[in-house]
This record gives sequence, structure tokens and C-alpha cells, in this order.
Amino acid sequence: MSEQKGVAETVTLTIDGAEVTVPKGTKVLDAAQRAGVVVPFYCYHPGIPTRPAQCRVCLVSVEGQGKLQPSCVLDAADDMVVHTDTGEARLARKSVIELLLVNHPLDCPICDAAGQCMLQDYAFETGQLESRVDEPKQVMGRDRIADDILYFADRCIICTRCVRFMREVAEDDALVVAQRGHRAYIDTFPGRELDHPFQGNIVDVCPVGALVHEDFLFKARFWDMDSASSVCPGCSTGCNVSVAAKENQIVRLKPRHNADVNSYWMCDHGRKHLVMANRGIRTEVPLLRDEDGELRPADWKDALRRVAESLAGIEAGRALVTPHACNESLFGLRRLLDHLGIEGGEFRVERGDTARLAGFPKLELREDRAPNVTGAELFGFRRVGEATAPSTGEALLVLSERLEEDPTLPAPSFADDASYVLVLGARPGPLARRADAILPITSFAEMQGTFTNFEGRVQRFDQALREAGIARPAWMVLSRLLALLGGEGGTLLEASAAFEAMASVTPEMEGMSWSGLGLKGLDLRRSVDVAGERS
Ligand code: SF4
Ligand code: SF4
Ligand code: FES
Repeated sequence: MSEQKGVAETVTLTIDGAEVTVPKGTKVLDAAQRAGVVVPFYCYHPGIPTRPAQCRVCLVSVEGQGKLQPSCVLDAADDMVVHTDTGEARLARKSVIELLLVNHPLDCPICDAAGQCMLQDYAFETGQLESRVDEPKQVMGRDRIADDILYFADRCIICTRCVRFMREVAEDDALVVAQRGHRAYIDTFPGRELDHPFQGNIVDVCPVGALVHEDFLFKARFWDMDSASSVCPGCSTGCNVSVAAKENQIVRLKPRHNADVNSYWMCDHGRKHLVMANRGIRTEVPLLRDEDGELRPADWKDALRRVAESLAGIEAGRALVTPHACNESLFGLRRLLDHLGIEGGEFRVERGDTARLAGFPKLELREDRAPNVTGAELFGFRRVGEATAPSTGEALLVLSERLEEDPTLPAPSFADDASYVLVLGARPGPLARRADAILPITSFAEMQGTFTNFEGRVQRFDQALREAGIARPAWMVLSRLLALLGGEGGTLLEASAAFEAMASVTPEMEGMSWSGLGLKGLDLRRSVDVAGERS
């Protein structure tokens, strides 16, 4: 095909009768995917640079070529005619699966990969109902390959994805294939340990159940889990993730592909910190302090009415927020503060060590261990090292959406001089002891919303868990309070409406819509000034 100046060169080929045009250099396997034709693969992974053509399960027939070709390394060419369903190609694929099953244990009923295993799927598709092997299977046992990762050698199909992830993406030569042939297994390089901040990705790239996170072992079957598209709140990078939940508990996090943020990967801190967040006491009903000084439960209607009455009477105040709150909640609080005549507001950020993924350096576990520092700054809240305590007569409004305990919140004595303390919290937190009213709000895992990451990318997250008790999203509660105080905008009941209300008056979000954000997010139009104290 001829190349016009400025136009990318393409080739057009036919795969199983379907004509497909792809950029020059595209492999036949990728072209087949684009044409909607399923070709099995094991050793190929779109995020790992090398294609060793090792497993041979992607063989296809090409007209004019005598032998079957591995489609994962074969360049698509003009006028090429490819067949994936000839008897010869099908037999070759079936033979590869049969060979793998000679020693692979039939332990799908207890394997954590069951239901999402590429060997199980292709064995089913190629009709491997009976084995022709009478000899006992080779038993190799299991090994702890890292602190929290187990290796089931019997299940391993030596696709080398894990070895190549470590070598080419993590750029840490920690894993090797030891031995050869049917004795081959994966091991750490002699004298080395697997101890890399991104090593959990080897479990994700494993196409079978050979590598398993220990904290997920025997915990949930694939079909028992609900999955939600979300954003990791572990740091300001905002990796795209899928949150898997069982019985309203987060059981697993996996990276979700986003070429502009995290590619196919995520760090181990993000994985662990959220799974650990299931524990602890939650705020489940509104609590109001009565004349005896005791916090007593109230229904939402009564609680909101009485909180609105109290807020209407305040003369001065200050706000303390968390950069774990979503954009919509922070915007909702900003509008309420503006209505009350309260300027500014502060937040603290937990800090930690950084770690970079060498093969995709944009992905970094960042120092700021919060997902929405940029969002908090966008809506006029200021990063501080130590929060300023309210002076005598000032009210204090606290917004804390964290699913875990929030270590950035000050001790109860912080609010000693406050005239009135309102806490909107997913957990009671230390300031609850001094609060006049506590309104239970959902954590990010229990609602929909958006975060803005370190470089100004606004990304949506979906609800993964049921809310605790009668907790509601902070943006909903804040909009209701504003409406009761006579402010504009009415009560927001949907995340999409809360987003549109925010985007319509925020110049940096001009032109953005909830549906337009999709699952990959959009960049702010202007950068946000991220100045502030960093101590
Ligand atoms: S452990 Fe998994 S990813 Fe690694 S070689 Fe074996 S099958 Fe492939
Ligand atoms: S780099 Fe940050 S956002 Fe990404 S997975 Fe790790 S903690 Fe989560
Ligand atoms: S995917 Fe092509 S040879 Fe393994």
C-alpha cells in the first residue's frame, strides 16, 4: 500500500475472510484481535516488550507459506491471507494444550485462577475432554517465591511472562527459568530475593494459577466476586484499577489498563493498602450531641435540619478536609463554605517513600499518599504541615472520606476552642469526641465520584461496596445542607449530576462531562497551582 506524506503507512490483509487494515509493523495476532478473530496466546502479553514465540499456541495458516506461523511475531503484510480455523491450525493448537495438560494438575476446583484461567478456557474450547496419558503426573510442589507470593510449580506452563516482566518492565533480573524441558520451573536467581515494589504484577500476568498472592489464597472464586472500575487512592498517581469485592469486603485489586497513567501495572503498596482497609469501626448513622453532652443517633431529616440550624448561626469558621475526598465532595464543601462566608480551608497529606517502575517510568508510587491533592487545591484548600486550630468562637467543619483511619487528623484537643464542630466522616476519627454533630458519609469505595491526579487528570471511580449503615456520599449531604440554608443548586442525588454541577462552574473543567470522562479520564484544561507547605 502506498504511503502518502504525513499519513501513517498501513497494510491490508484478510483474516478468516475478514479484511482488516492495520498500521505497518502490526503483528498478525494483534490484527486478528482488531478483526474480532480470537487467536489463543500465552507467552505474549501486550505490556511486555519481548515476544519469544515460545508457547506456540497462537499458530495460524498463511496462504503461500508451507508451515504454520506463530501469529504473535508474524508481521501483517499487504494481501496476506490468514486462516486461524484450518484443520491443521486447530490440530496444532489442540496438541499444544494437550502437551501442557500432560503434567498440569486438574485442580481447577481449588485453584484461585479458575474461571479466569487461559489454560482452562482453551482446553474447554479445543475439546480436551479426556487424557491419552496413563502415567502419573509429575509433582513439583509449591514454593514461596516472595514474601506474599506463592508459586505452584505444577500449574506453571513456562510462558516466561513473569520472568520477562521482572527483567524488561521492572528492570530487575530477579527471576529465571531453572532447568529445561519438563523439569523447568521458575525460581529466583541464585543469591537473589524477589523484593521489588511492583512485583505483584507477576501474579496478574500469569495466564494460569501458578502465581498467587497469599492474602488472596482460597479466599474467593471468580464468580463469587463483584468487580468495579475504580482508581487507586494509595497515592497521587491515580492508577486505574478493578476492585473485586465479596460479601461487601474488598478482596483483591488488579490494575486496569490506561496507557496515559499506569499502562497494565500497579504497585504493591496500592494493592495491599486497600485490601487492608476493610477493618475497623464506621460511622453508620447521624449522631447529634444532646444537652447531656452525649452523642445520640438521629434520622437524616432531623440531623440535617438541626445541623443546618446550627450552621446558620455561626459567625466565623474554618475547614479541615482530606485529599482522600473526591472532587464532588470538596466542591460541595466549597460551595457550603462560600455560602457561610468561610474562606480557605486546610488539608494535610500523609507522605511516604517513592518507587518508580523503570520500564514505564511515568508510573511512580508518589510521595503524596492521597489520590486528590490536586482536586483539594483546585477547590481552594491549602496543603499545610500542621493544621491551624480554630480560635475561640470559630466553628470547625471536618471532611474525612477515608476508608482507613486517617492519620492526618489532629487530636480532639485541636477543637477545644471551637464554638461548634461538624464532622462528615466515613469513620468516627479522633475529632468525633469533640464533635457536636457527626454525619456518616460513604468512602470512595462505596460511591461514585472523581479524583484529580498529580498531573491534573480527572478520573471516575465506580461503587464497589454497599454503603455502611445509612451513610451517604458527602456531596449529597453537603448539597442538602446548602439547600436547607437557602443556597442554590438543590439536593444532588446522582454522582453524574454532582459532577456536572461542579464542571459547569469550574473553568479548569470546561467542556468536561460525566460520560465524556469514560473509564480513562480527561486532563484539566489548566494546571492547578500546587504550592503549599510540604513539611
Ligand atoms: S509462573 Fe505463570 S507467568 Fe510465570 S512462567 Fe509460569 S505460567 Fe508463566
Ligand atoms: S502507584 Fe500509587 S496509585 Fe498506583 S497503585 Fe501504587 S499507590 Fe496506587
Ligand atoms: S503467544 Fe505466540 S507463541 Fe506464545
